[in-house]
Amino acid sequence: MNKENKIQRFDKMQQQAPAEEGARQYYFIEQARTLWKERFDALVDSGEAAGRYGSRLLGQLQAEGKYGTFHIATFGCQMNARDSEKLSGILEQAGLKEIDSEHADFVLYNTCTVRDNANQKVYGRLGYLHTLKKKQPDMMIALCGCMMQEPSVIEKIKKSYSFVDLIFGTHNIFKLAELLCRRMLENRKMVVDVWEGTDQIVEELPVDRKYPFKSGVNIMFGCNNFCSYCIVPYVRGRERSRRPEDILDEIRKLVADGVVEVMLLGQNVNSYGKNLETPITFAQLLREINEIEGLERIRFMTSHPKDLSDELIEAMRDCKKVCTHLHLPLQSGSSRILKIMNRRYTKEQYLELVDKIRSAMPGISLTTDIIVGFPGETEEDFEETLDVVRRVRYDSAFTFIYSKRTGTPAAAMEQVPEDVVKNRFDRLLKEVQQISAEVCGRDEKTVQKVLVESLDDHQEGYVTGRMSNNTVVHFPGDESLIGKIVDVYLEESKGFYYMGKFREDGQKKE
Ligand code: SAH
Ligand code: SF4
Ligand code: F3S
Repeated sequence: MNKENKIQRFDKMQQQAPAEEGARQYYFIEQARTLWKERFDALVDSGEAAGRYGSRLLGQLQAEGKYGTFHIATFGCQMNARDSEKLSGILEQAGLKEIDSEHADFVLYNTCTVRDNANQKVYGRLGYLHTLKKKQPDMMIALCGCMMQEPSVIEKIKKSYSFVDLIFGTHNIFKLAELLCRRMLENRKMVVDVWEGTDQIVEELPVDRKYPFKSGVNIMFGCNNFCSYCIVPYVRGRERSRRPEDILDEIRKLVADGVVEVMLLGQNVNSYGKNLETPITFAQLLREINEIEGLERIRFMTSHPKDLSDELIEAMRDCKKVCTHLHLPLQSGSSRILKIMNRRYTKEQYLELVDKIRSAMPGISLTTDIIVGFPGETEEDFEETLDVVRRVRYDSAFTFIYSKRTGTPAAAMEQVPEDVVKNRFDRLLKEVQQISAEVCGRDEKTVQKVLVESLDDHQEGYVTGRMSNNTVVHFPGDESLIGKIVDVYLEESKGFYYMGKFREDGQKKE
């Protein structure tokens, strides 16, 4: 096909595409499938296909009716992981097969920009992709996700990574098939489509789940909190909640498809529902999800302490399916720093909240996020953080060195010297790990329900699963247990995980 014909073909597609967004994207998925098929058939006809894929993979593609390969690398949080499942669902339906390596026809990086090291990783790996593309020039490289919402990043990629084929952002991932068609037919080297924001939520597109038995479920998108260090509100846009009917419907379908555990996802799930036509609280939503027959476990993240209501604590206590784990980001233990961070709670309020949660649910496991070296943090401020860590005694804590994000208010504040931050970070990590090792062993010598997730990576004949409180357990077992919730006797605590024994007869003690 020459250039003119290609462009005409794309124009025609655009005219014929349905207006309603869901139907429109299914139309483009079919069109993309045809394009990949034509490309694949040409490779087979010219005899190049065997050399490109190797005879084993080629055989698999032909047997599965696929026309090429794709690879997605996901950086960042659960939100991105869920987006990647959606992207992968679209690519599968467009006729491509997912493979583990970057030697693929279509490589997509779903990026994160919450801290600078996430960005650096992407630039590093792009260099490697360039070497692959030099060997196979028709390979397509695409970038999406939070990093792409930053204009400075787009400029840099246009200037220094011009071999990238396709760039889109966090608001239009549902458009992947349409953008693919555009890139394959339009006479442009790089297609860039990044939206500043959206109020659109496109439902019902294909999803390719990573695990058959558990799934993330978006309940809201975006964030309105503007913590002064954080870039997420700028790259994920304003808060939008999905309608409860759509969420419940999605979970029912997931359950019918074998899912037993859902993780409800949002940057601040406690403010769920506020902007809906018929407002509903997160606590009410939890109660409704708890009623879904066949669903066994409900998790959620993330909870902002400022919005964690008594109503939610009661719902968590009452709903048997809600797991005994709460991730409650602290960020800092100093009320002075919390104020500058715009977190809208004090150290005392946070500790009171923890007390309230623990008295309602005594065995609950608490985890947190902490930032070290926020601008202006003094030794006294840092001691306050250590104090909260010692008082709360978290099951685990993710500790981060403050990373300056251009455009956020904190970036303009006076930064703490690197060596001081490093020293505090090491001290905090030591404290957190020591407490965690003590706390995590509290269920030793008891029988607990464990959802088996996979074969154990390190020990043959063992499987790995998670307790309701999210602690990992390894125990002897085989593939047939994956996706099942079983009783396991926790023989020995290893600090962050347990070694256990499968108990078919459940309740008996050793
Ligand atoms: N919405 C969630 C967190 C999203 S980002 C919440 O409010 O808790 C995940 C974590 O990254 C944050 O909890 C914070 O601890 C950390 N983080 C965010 N911005 C950061 C920055 N600029 N530097 C270091 N850590 C940061
Ligand atoms: Fe970032 Fe704060 Fe929003 Fe979390 S609540 S995503 S830390 S701005
Ligand atoms: Fe990163 Fe975006 Fe999540 S910046 S942490 S991937 S919302």
